[in-house]
Amino acid sequence: MPKDVFYVTTPIYYPNDVPHIGHAYTTVATDFVARYHRLRGEEAFFLTGTDEHGKKVPQAARDQGLEPQEFVDRMEPRWREVWERLDVAYDDYIRTTEPRHEKAVTKLLTAVYENGRDDIYLGTYEGLYCVSCEAYYTEDELVNGLCPIHASPVEAVSEENYFFRLSAYQDRLLEHYEAHPEAVEPEARRNEVLSTIKGGLRDFSISRTSFAWGVPLPWDPKHVCYVWFDALTNYVTAAGYAEDPARFERMWPADVHFIGKDILRFHAIYWPAMLMAAGVEPPRQVWAHGFLLVGGEKMSKTRLTGIHPFELVDHFGVDAYRYYFLREIQFGQDGSFSWESMVARYNADLANDLGNLASRVLAMLDQYVGGRVPQPPRTHGPEVRLAEAARGAAAEYDERVLAMDLTGGLAAVWGCVGEVNRYLVEVAPWALAKDQARRAELEACLYASAEALRIIAVMISPVMPRAAARLWEQLGIDSALEDQRLPEAASWGAIAPGTRVRRGDALFPRLEG
Ligand code: MSP
Repeated sequence: MPKDVFYVTTPIYYPNDVPHIGHAYTTVATDFVARYHRLRGEEAFFLTGTDEHGKKVPQAARDQGLEPQEFVDRMEPRWREVWERLDVAYDDYIRTTEPRHEKAVTKLLTAVYENGRDDIYLGTYEGLYCVSCEAYYTEDELVNGLCPIHASPVEAVSEENYFFRLSAYQDRLLEHYEAHPEAVEPEARRNEVLSTIKGGLRDFSISRTSFAWGVPLPWDPKHVCYVWFDALTNYVTAAGYAEDPARFERMWPADVHFIGKDILRFHAIYWPAMLMAAGVEPPRQVWAHGFLLVGGEKMSKTRLTGIHPFELVDHFGVDAYRYYFLREIQFGQDGSFSWESMVARYNADLANDLGNLASRVLAMLDQYVGGRVPQPPRTHGPEVRLAEAARGAAAEYDERVLAMDLTGGLAAVWGCVGEVNRYLVEVAPWALAKDQARRAELEACLYASAEALRIIAVMISPVMPRAAARLWEQLGIDSALEDQRLPEAASWGAIAPGTRVRRGDALFPRLEG
């Protein structure tokens, strides 16, 4: 079976961290993209999980008087509960302490070790280690002697390690990125990766002996595998690399690894080189988004600026949460969260533009035409502009989301919402309703407005699954929302005349602050 699954991943999170909206940003974006591809009728497979090995786990466990496994077992559910609350519909959740993963790490290590090119060799490492990054730094990479990402002290470490001969992959990586420029996006990130590769690559250490928490190297079990080598492997584990070759053929290579830009070199340099060394194809794309900033700096636990997603979901609801971050911050760039901007965006786009539109149209259907969708008009009138707006929005939405301009995709949908609102103001069905002679015009207008809402409900379903389902229910459409597929579901004229609408509560009640 050739590859036929759209396979998309998030980074796997450190279980000892407390989830914050920066982490959730990656996961919600990934969920949106996975849902969008499902809506297009593709089989999508969305993987997330937790990165449970590494030096900081035994340290943190000891502080709490726990064994490392007990510790990660207690911490990991705090991640899953966030994803559940945020309606993140992953297909698989991987924990790197699972046997299936250890098997895959062992297989990948063995494949590289035995590739006949001596890509793994024994050496001594002396360096400065940041436990929070689980990475070594050189003196000149530090900022004021501290880790450039966490602004925390680094440890001087010297140990016998196995190394991966990354330096041998410089040319192959460059060739790979030349042949597949889309393999790192956005472009600024690609340039960064290319200049790092051109600047020369240093071999990196792939084992540790100072602690035992990890996957033992199959040929020298005194060493455990370096946490990043271990963690990156999760992407092939879940695709069946060690256990199910037929599945692996359908799934691999991954279509997109979504990551934040801080972990770009691991994903765009280490990972493809590791795979090449093991004779496995590199991922098709690594897509690095920007940071959520607080006071101009990356939101982070160590800086105590983390906002837990629940703090916002409790107030704004899960749909608004998902929509806000994707719509407010141009996907790919850094952006700041602020409570005020979230209230403003909620009230403008959701309460006013979409929510009021839906309640207005449903109320008019109720009041003027007995709560049933009228017949479509026999000849075209001013309502054709809604058909055009819906068609245009669906096409632009598709183009933008496939190009990962998630923000632009949502803006296209809201362009259509705005067009329906403008149309209603101009056609003024409330005035038409007063004049029996203009009944046909009124019905044409209400048919078109209901039909536009149907298409809008389908389009918003990947970003706001709950609001979409409620709107769908209020429209009273028989077929299930889950069965709708784009682009077919966006073709004009599918809502059946006679459909009984059911007015319900406001989709997005206005917020005062
Ligand atoms: N465990 C590694 C990833 C291993 S993947 C094989 C790791 N975990 S992390 O929990 O520290 O970070 C996970 C993701 O959250 C990264 O993509 C990171 O960029 C993202 N974010 C963490 N803070 C962030 C912001 N303030 N803003 C946006 N995303 C950020 O690294």
